[in-house]
Amino acid sequence: MKNMLIRKATPKDDERVKALCLTDNPKDFVPGIWPVWMAGKNTTNLVAVADGRIIGCIYGEIISGHDAWAQGLRVHPDFRKRGIGTKLMMALESDLFQMGGKDIYANIGAFNEASLSTVLKLKWRIDTHFIRRRSKPTGRLQNQPVLFSRDRILKLIHGSPILASCKKVAYFQRAYFSMTNHYIDQAFRKNTIRVSPDGRAYAITDLETDPAKKIWVVAMAGEAPGIQWLLESFMGDAGRLGVELVIDSTKNHLLQSLMDKLQFCPPEKNGHYVVVKKDLSEVNTNF
Ligand SMILES: CC(C)(COP(=O)(O)OP(=O)(O)OC[C@H]1O[C@@H](n2cnc3c(N)ncnc32)[C@H](O)[C@@H]1OP(=O)(O)O)[C@@H](O)C(=O)NCCC(=O)NCCS
Repeated sequence: MKNMLIRKATPKDDERVKALCLTDNPKDFVPGIWPVWMAGKNTTNLVAVADGRIIGCIYGEIISGHDAWAQGLRVHPDFRKRGIGTKLMMALESDLFQMGGKDIYANIGAFNEASLSTVLKLKWRIDTHFIRRRSKPTGRLQNQPVLFSRDRILKLIHGSPILASCKKVAYFQRAYFSMTNHYIDQAFRKNTIRVSPDGRAYAITDLETDPAKKIWVVAMAGEAPGIQWLLESFMGDAGRLGVELVIDSTKNHLLQSLMDKLQFCPPEKNGHYVVVKKDLSEVNTNF
């Protein structure tokens, strides 16, 4: 499209971004979180504009060290398949590269062909798949969090036998990134790391989610008995608080059957995701 430009979003655009997202999907989560993304420190929010009208948007962030994150790509239904999604993504990659990003990640619904073809054509690679599952509330299980010293947990996280990114017992979102010290520091500060009593498994809940509203486990690694203890511990918390428990995990057979045994709901059709990744430094000559 000749008369289309991509520029930084401003808070004045918030309402129009909201309208854009809701055109296609009245339940879209992006309008709710867009102002939070706008207020973030290491974020970049871009909009595509044609004839004064906002027809596309995207957000990215340097999430930890040199790891970047992309989310919220939306193009108005009337303007799709004209290269706008691609241009937004390229502009975002360029911004994040200039902000110090090296590896960029995103999650895409496994059946979202439009989005997958957009990134694959830009030379993103499929890194892994994960499944989102929810547990039915139960108040019966009462496994209490165990306190471990910071040093012991760090050893556990960095220890080769159970490093999430190597063993891939289960992981999702930021934890499969480099598990940088910065990320781990934040997790400690926010008390989002939980370790099994045998010290052989750990789980991390989302840094941003309010545990009084939802418990969202974004990374788990370790050996089966410890993982089972952790799952039961979160189920107990969720039951007590009366909140939803969401677990994102790899397709690992052992882990999935453990969740079946604990009567987690089977994954929904839209609960299958692809993690995609691109090394920005390989392609920075494009910018
Ligand atoms: C995903 C989305 C942003 C793509 O925007 P877009 O402007 O149509 O994308 P582009 O025109 O740049 O298309 C990029 C490539 O993907 C392909 N593509 C786009 N839509 C497609 C579809 N529905 N099915 C198959 N391929 C598709 C295009 O053909 C193009 O390849 P080409 O260059 O070989 O023709 C848009 O479809 C959208 O807003 N979808 C709803 C929201 C969403 O799913 N966002 C992503 C969340 S992760």
